[in-house]
Amino acid sequence: MTIVLALETSCDETAVALVAGRHVLANVVASQVASHAPYGGVVPELAARRHVELLPHLVDRAFGEAGITWTQVKAVAATATPGLVGALLVGLTAGKTMALLHGKPFLAVHHLEGHLCSAQLTGGPPLKPPFLVLLVSGGHTQLVRVDGPGAYRLCGATVDDAAGEAFDKVARLLGLGYPGGPAIEAVAARGGDPRRFAFPQGRVGRRGGGYEPYAFSFSGLKTAVLRCIEALQRQGEPLPVADLAASFQYTVAEALSSRTVGCALDQGLSQLVVVGGVAANRRLRQALEQRRREAGLTLVMAPLAFCGDNAAMIGVAAGQRLASGCQSPLTIGVSPRLPLHEAKRLYDPHPPF
Ligand code: KG4
Ligand code: ZN
Repeated sequence: MTIVLALETSCDETAVALVAGRHVLANVVASQVASHAPYGGVVPELAARRHVELLPHLVDRAFGEAGITWTQVKAVAATATPGLVGALLVGLTAGKTMALLHGKPFLAVHHLEGHLCSAQLTGGPPLKPPFLVLLVSGGHTQLVRVDGPGAYRLCGATVDDAAGEAFDKVARLLGLGYPGGPAIEAVAARGGDPRRFAFPQGRVGRRGGGYEPYAFSFSGLKTAVLRCIEALQRQGEPLPVADLAASFQYTVAEALSSRTVGCALDQGLSQLVVVGGVAANRRLRQALEQRRREAGLTLVMAPLAFCGDNAAMIGVAAGQRLASGCQSPLTIGVSPRLPLHEAKRLYDPHPPF
């Protein structure tokens, strides 16, 4: 059994896991939401400081939960990109230090490859490529074609805001808390009418001479919600927050699910996968489920517990890389961004950063 200790500190979740292949021995996540909530968003330096404070306790807790010792650990992994540089540095430095101290190989992990691997944690049979992944989080909205281990092709992405970012911004407009996704979902579920307001789905026109049918755009939708709120306020009416939240959520779910299924059909792919923080949204899960059934496709959704940032998915990604003979040099650093298809560079003898 190849046990990997994995650390995830790319944003505002401090997370540690011990995994053996697709088997999770321990998965501890400390959300920093309460620390950042007063500021209405993540404060990068505060996130880094909280990671420093929380990480040692979480490592202890993970070993306690798994009931194992360092001698049973085969490798150490940490997220190196993309994310907040200061936050990433905490996990990466801690991971490299522990690997050096205990004489284990170290693996730097691409955060989005981690999200992709969260779909391996369903307890069902392992996912076999090729498949199309809808990756929807606070920082990313992408359609990725996976043809084999580490073989990724970007089929579509947002041209402006990520879906999660749109949830967070609209939640702020509606006076709801941070993070916005769960807040909007909860308010919409209180009898919100998803058809009350017809918001635009963010059609993306011709760019660079070609039409991009699988690009996403959410900033126009956010502006449409803002204009709608302003118009209602001018009429002196109390804001129908539940209806606004439900209509916004419906529009996002329609845009994401229709383009995902359309892209899979175009690509000749019969398997769909959905991962990332926004994949926790029940309205989106329902829309995808309905559309994929009509189209005769299969759908694997990341389990709710592994949609948001966690270290178990980082451990699964690292385990797969280790199995194919990869490890990262201890000279590796962090980067705010690296395209997913370049994740293999994290295992080169000459690292990208
Ligand atoms: O994957 P994640 O935890 O972190 C990133 O890598 O970005 O995603 C966080 C994002 C936030 O924007 C949050 O509002 C959104 O996921 N989110 C949701 C839900 N839960 C989290 N969006 C819609 N519905 C949810 N239930
Ligand atoms: Zn994430």
